[in-house]
Amino acid sequence: VKGKSLIIYGAGGHGLVVAEAAALAGFAVTGFIDDEVEIGSKIRGWRVLGRSGYAFGETAVIVAVGDNASRHKIIQRLDVSHVKLATVIHPIAAVSTSAKIGPGVFIGPMAVINAEATIGSGAIVNSAAVVEHHCSVGEAAHVAPGAVLAGRVTVGARSLIGTGAVVIPLRVIGEDAVVGAGAVVIRDVAVGTKVVGNPARAI
Ligand SMILES: CC(C)(COP(=O)(O)OP(=O)(O)OC[C@H]1O[C@@H](n2cnc3c(N)ncnc32)[C@H](O)[C@@H]1OP(=O)(O)O)[C@@H](O)C(=O)NCCC(=O)NCCS
Repeated sequence: VKGKSLIIYGAGGHGLVVAEAAALAGFAVTGFIDDEVEIGSKIRGWRVLGRSGYAFGETAVIVAVGDNASRHKIIQRLDVSHVKLATVIHPIAAVSTSAKIGPGVFIGPMAVINAEATIGSGAIVNSAAVVEHHCSVGEAAHVAPGAVLAGRVTVGARSLIGTGAVVIPLRVIGEDAVVGAGAVVIRDVAVGTKVVGNPARAI
């Protein structure tokens, strides 16, 4: 990582979080790409360089767009153009040496990824989230701050595990599902379903 140039795609709140973590991890953050923020404007000293069509060349990119479906689409588009996706791991995250972390993943401060967990490309494991042993987090999914996946949980692509939610061992969360903040998931969650509460139920 040391000194490697990195562009952050997405200049919102999550983009700033990723930029700061990347700088701490040793990347040379070059700036942001964002379709809505004025080109040339600065966020904490990092310049907005351009829009989605930007020519990244050899510079690595991480997509820091919070919405899972949007992030997934952008990553797939970048992939087709052979743009290099970087993985950013905050220096105070605890990541097992046997975990498999895909390209374009962000792992926030105090997050724990335990033995043989798999994190799919473009996924977010946010601040202080816990992904226990043998879990599988799908592409462009998001385990929000403080959420806990106990052992051998599967999270489908683009699903959101809301902040502070808990999923007991072995449960399967389908693709495009949303687990509400603070929910306690004790049963599998079907594809595209939104669940809340303790025990978590569909709404
Ligand atoms: C679950 C969630 C997506 C629902 O959002 P929504 O579809 O806009 O739903 P609404 O706010 O209209 O709420 C629908 C009902 O569910 C209830 N509800 C919503 N979120 C809830 C939660 N987290 N826990 C318990 N009940 C909840 C509401 O009280 C409401 O109940 P009612 O119909 O009896 O009044 C949202 O509330 C949530 O928890 N999001 C997680 C956000 C998050 O953690 N993001 C990570 C950022 S880093």
